[in-house]
Amino acid sequence: MHDANGTLASGCIIFNLRSYSVGSDTQLFSVPAMPGLGANSMQIFLDTANIAEIKKSLATGVVSGVTTNPSIISRENKPFDTCIAEIIAVDPNLTVLLEVLAMDTQGMISEARKLNNISNNIVVKIPMTPEGLAAVKVLSQEGIKTTVTLVFSLNQAIAASCVGADYVAPFIGRLEDIDTDGTELVNTIKRTFETQKNKTKIIVASIRTPKAVSTLFSIGCDIITMPLNILEGMFKHPLTDAGLKKFNEDWQKVPAK
Ligand code: G3P
Repeated sequence: MHDANGTLASGCIIFNLRSYSVGSDTQLFSVPAMPGLGANSMQIFLDTANIAEIKKSLATGVVSGVTTNPSIISRENKPFDTCIAEIIAVDPNLTVLLEVLAMDTQGMISEARKLNNISNNIVVKIPMTPEGLAAVKVLSQEGIKTTVTLVFSLNQAIAASCVGADYVAPFIGRLEDIDTDGTELVNTIKRTFETQKNKTKIIVASIRTPKAVSTLFSIGCDIITMPLNILEGMFKHPLTDAGLKKFNEDWQKVPAK
């Protein structure tokens, strides 16, 4: 229906879908294995360990991963193992980011190896500390995927990339909470990685508004992880609601025969 320039060929009729439902079976939108790795396009992850939220977001087809941290896990009031098993059971192909709790290098490495064995799609989150950097260096040599988390400066992102982190996770909202420009930090990390031809990708976390999502993707960040309310906020526009209401009203005027 599209010509080589991507424009609609003549003679093509577009029908509005008058009635539809998003499948309650989230497997309808089963995501490909490790979609975050090696893909060039932007991706959206959900920042939660809540099963209902994960299912709801996956049903839209937009989300391809889930990110957790100790605070997020604690909100579910379940043992860690139960929580993770339930998330993986929703969709075994979902990319899931899990954080280590140890503070020392050897402890982080041991935890990361165990987490990595849970499924093929785990990315281990390691905190941005000297001990964490040393752990990432070992883990990257073993082929275990890592995200260096709690990144708040370009130098921290550079250090993480130098030890082989697959991702760095700048926390934008927490910077803006203290009147610091988080978007500018992401922009600077992006340009620096491009200049240096680094492979480390940026997964932006601590998102407070839907506007932040569009701004951050427009400056080239790879993945954004967000709570469900921000994801839902991305879909909304008053003109969409008004337009749909008008279509439905006008449809009632169409003669049945
Ligand atoms: O993924 C990190 C994120 O959960 C932090 O968000 O809102 O606690 O700053 P927030």
